[in-house]
Amino acid sequence: MKTTIFSLAALSLMGILVFGAGIAISDSDRRYYQEDDDDDRWERMMRRSTGVAVKSSPTYKEECGSCHMAYPPGLLPSSSWRRIMGGLADHFGDNAELDEQMTQQISNFLISNAADKSRYRRSRQMTAAIHPSTGLAPMRISENPYFKHEHDEISVRVIKQSGATSLSHCNACHQRAEQGSFNEHEIWIKGLGRWDD
Ligand code: HEC
Ligand code: HEC
Repeated sequence: MKTTIFSLAALSLMGILVFGAGIAISDSDRRYYQEDDDDDRWERMMRRSTGVAVKSSPTYKEECGSCHMAYPPGLLPSSSWRRIMGGLADHFGDNAELDEQMTQQISNFLISNAADKSRYRRSRQMTAAIHPSTGLAPMRISENPYFKHEHDEISVRVIKQSGATSLSHCNACHQRAEQGSFNEHEIWIKGLGRWDD
């Protein structure tokens, strides 16, 4: 009898704790949920833990989405976007130069939505790659230590199989990368199918 009462008490205490935590989370997150209010709540929660915010613009897609996908701005901190936008004439060996007004417009879009302005967990992990003493951020998402860690099991063979020339082509595997989603369940690789850990 004693043990029954005890476990009942323990159960209700747990209930209170879980319920309380639920309220705390929904309160602090409400503001961020509003960023993309056309998706359902579960989707947003998943994305908050494994993805980055959905931010795009037709101009950005048009100018920066022809050679590779238009990377969601939350994948790099503003210092990286500044470096990239300041050197478009020699962009990873390609010329991606734009006129001054367009460069300015896209820079503003990228910088105001950059990883360091976001509360998404993956964005914060990308921001953590800024070198503490030089303040320099990597030019590539794929150079980020967190990114490397997540992809260290992926062989060159799998990358080739996916149809991508390098890991820079996120959308060869992450079917909804352009929407900021990197959820494991949305990984589908050509020749391999759905990713199973
Ligand atoms: C003419 C083609 C071209 C255009 C246009 C272009 N890029 Fe790129 N971009 C490249 C190439 C090539 C790479 C290197 C990809 C690789 O190594 O496989 C690259 C890589 C990148 C990367 C690094 C990806 C990684 O590995 O993490 C970022 C970020 C990037 N581009 C942003 C932009 C932005 C912003 C614009 C628009 C201003 C843009 N690109 C327009 C060709 C282009
Ligand atoms: C060749 C396929 C491939 C490419 C290309 C690729 N990824 Fe991935 N990515 C994976 C796989 C597979 C995993 C899951 C790894 C695991 O299960 O441990 C993963 C995991 C991730 C995760 C962790 C997701 C989570 O559950 O927390 C993030 C974030 C991510 N990738 C972002 C990117 C970004 C950004 C790019 C492009 C710059 C990219 N990936 C390119 C295959 C790929």
